[in-house]
Amino acid sequence: MAASPRSPRVSRSAGALALASEWPSASRINRSWLADEARHVTGLLDDYSLSTAQRQAIQSQAMHLVEAVRDNREDKGGLDAFLHEYDLSSEEGIVLMCLAEALLRIPDADTADRLIADRLASGHWEEHLGTSESLFVNASTWGLMLTGRLMRPSSETMKNPTRMMKNLATRAGEPVLRTAMRQAMRIMGHQFVMGRDIREALKRGQSKDNRQWRYSFDMLGEAALTDEDADRYFEAYAQAIDATGGAADKAVDMAARPSVSVKLSALYPRYEFLHAEAALEALGERLLSLAQRACAAGIALTVDAEEADRLELSLRIFERVYRDASLTGWGGLGLAVQAYQKRARDVVAWISELSADVGETIFVRLVKGAYWDTEIKRAQEQGLPGYPVFTRKVCTDLSYLVCARDLLQAPASVYPQFATHNAHTVASILELAGERAFEFQRLHGMGEELYGELARLPKAPACRVYAPVGRHKDLLPYLVRRLLENGANTSFVNRIVDEQAPIEDIVADPVAQLRALKAIPHPRIGLPAEMFAPSRRNSSGMNLADPAVLAGLSTDMQARTLARAQPLIDGKAREGVAQPSVNPAHRAESVGEAIDANAAMASE
Ligand code: FAD
Ligand code: 2OP
Repeated sequence: MAASPRSPRVSRSAGALALASEWPSASRINRSWLADEARHVTGLLDDYSLSTAQRQAIQSQAMHLVEAVRDNREDKGGLDAFLHEYDLSSEEGIVLMCLAEALLRIPDADTADRLIADRLASGHWEEHLGTSESLFVNASTWGLMLTGRLMRPSSETMKNPTRMMKNLATRAGEPVLRTAMRQAMRIMGHQFVMGRDIREALKRGQSKDNRQWRYSFDMLGEAALTDEDADRYFEAYAQAIDATGGAADKAVDMAARPSVSVKLSALYPRYEFLHAEAALEALGERLLSLAQRACAAGIALTVDAEEADRLELSLRIFERVYRDASLTGWGGLGLAVQAYQKRARDVVAWISELSADVGETIFVRLVKGAYWDTEIKRAQEQGLPGYPVFTRKVCTDLSYLVCARDLLQAPASVYPQFATHNAHTVASILELAGERAFEFQRLHGMGEELYGELARLPKAPACRVYAPVGRHKDLLPYLVRRLLENGANTSFVNRIVDEQAPIEDIVADPVAQLRALKAIPHPRIGLPAEMFAPSRRNSSGMNLADPAVLAGLSTDMQARTLARAQPLIDGKAREGVAQPSVNPAHRAESVGEAIDANAAMASE
């Protein structure tokens, strides 16, 4: 059993406040946290210039890749066609998404049955019949796919999936249906998961077909809720590191060996800025302990990027471990950077400076980002002054390219790893990279054809597969992110399977697309303050994960004068008997006084 460093006692937000001014890099990185999108993207556009010849080379490489992928797709009726047909712009796609998510979450059978009945009865399934070339999509639709292992559909049923869906719905009380649906989730999960445990995953990775790929194994599990969860995930990572190190060929460079990817949210239940002090201590120790293990095992360990409000903490934890003397000479620590965040470029600059200062290799995995929907919704809920992420996909695409170019120009101690399934992005990297060493990365179950095609190039670039490992019960958040990614009709993996979509559109140059726009921010994603417009303004909130905001709040609190609240009727303040108002957290502390309205005032 690996000894997991114990959790310190959880401290309160005062800890976060104390840390607020302690990290100078924060002010530079955080200045773009919620930046104005138009201004920010205009700055990126101004900084990213390619020659006409370069643009043409990228365009023709990207078109060649898409054509080849379309020609070579062996199974044109697989899960990707299904996810395209039921993408998230259709009502049915959303029903299926809800079911997928809810079924893995609902613990009791009765509620699961009712949910299935309720959701399957809605939706216009017949509209999907015949719109896809895929037999799989037409014949199975969702319900058939779900029950495929238990029922063989008759040809009559295949012609009329609507009736089948209704029949399914009326039979929803039967446990067999629920079991079948769970089975279907397993089938979907299998598409994206490499193995139930690390041994199974390593074995699969060594099979003849898979030997061409480098692997990074990720142990499923995130957002630990208790110390017990965190201990269990820590143990799983520790075992994965040992097993992966045991299987690694030490004759090749560290960069070519298999590695392990880790989510900090799996290792500590209070990975939040308001618990920064405790989180830094606990996660600093736990990540260091895993890094020391990876160092001893001779493999690399990369920290995944998660939600935007965890970025600063993750960088601080990373720096602490990266600078630890016990790891000198290892050169195996890695970090993922999300290009959809407005802070991405400043993070890349920070990494470059850090690596130049210390000199040990940093593996930097550039991704676009997997939590986009969450980021948008959270900013709206919190009434923030802006979004931490871009609202148009094409802005993210541009940010990715700018960050990629910055990484390719970073000191040699930065080893860039470009994680993408998008042919235009891939073609751009090939053009930008020159002689610089780098690798591509893809997710297990995605992008096989694209990278199969790249493998045929005369100077084939290396590609690593991010391979989730674990049991079905830990799959949910990861699976939902993949369904969102594959189901979004803007995403490359969704569009490439749409044979009707012209190739020129799929590989359109983001710079040209942005320059053609009248307004850069997405017109249908107003700022959080405007989300209820025109009926009312959203209440405004504070970004409590930003140390600068916390520091300002603290100054205001110290400088505050006692407040006086009184009724305002027709714009006129009313007098009455003032009652003292106290801080609910410290009832001895007076914060002001308040005059309540009375019944007479209310009925005026
Ligand atoms: P594309 O279709 O070109 O891009 C899709 C992406 O565009 C979306 O995922 C989103 O980021 C962005 N996008 C979509 N709509 C909008 C919009 N309206 N406005 C702004 N942006 C938008 N993700 C993480 O968050 N953390 C990780 O640690 C991480 N690790 C990964 C490791 C590997 C090896 C790989 C391949 C992916 C990893 N991902 C991670 C997931 C990654 O973020 C997605 O797979 C990636 O965004 C898909 O980009 P693409 O270039 O393949 O596809
Ligand atoms: C995710 O878990 C791959 O880290 C990325 O969605």
